[in-house]
Amino acid sequence: QSILVLHGPNLNLLGTREPGIYGSLTLAQINDNLVALAGELGVKLQHWQGNHEGDLVDRIQAARQDGTDFIVINAAAYTHTSVAVRDALAAVSIPFVEVHLSNLYKREPFRHHSYLSDLAVGLISGLGADGYEAALRYAARH
Ligand code: DQA
Repeated sequence: QSILVLHGPNLNLLGTREPGIYGSLTLAQINDNLVALAGELGVKLQHWQGNHEGDLVDRIQAARQDGTDFIVINAAAYTHTSVAVRDALAAVSIPFVEVHLSNLYKREPFRHHSYLSDLAVGLISGLGADGYEAALRYAARH
């Protein structure tokens, strides 16, 4: 079982970026915790972060070749804008869970629409970094 965790734009700044909204853990800490959990669960974990839409599309496409069984994705701002990211996820046809650190529905109206949610197995929003762990546990079981 091979799980790919994808982090979209600006998530490299976690820890210092609006900590009241996104929490105080850095992306490296979140990834380290996920790697440790994957070890406990006995699954393979890869993680990737990118700030560019096309790079995210390329990484999703590559998942079809690299044996990825399940994707956990926080597409960040591209969630609300990117038909290309949506189309890439549909094209590879790998099941995915959509994760957001913040609760999108407590925030600005432009964050209430996601191009990904209707394709996702499920959506976790507002649980902070714990949301990634919940998604990983789900992915490991399915
Ligand atoms: C986010 C929410 C998005 O609206 C925002 O653009 C992000 C992060 C979250 O994890 O809460 O960059 O996906």
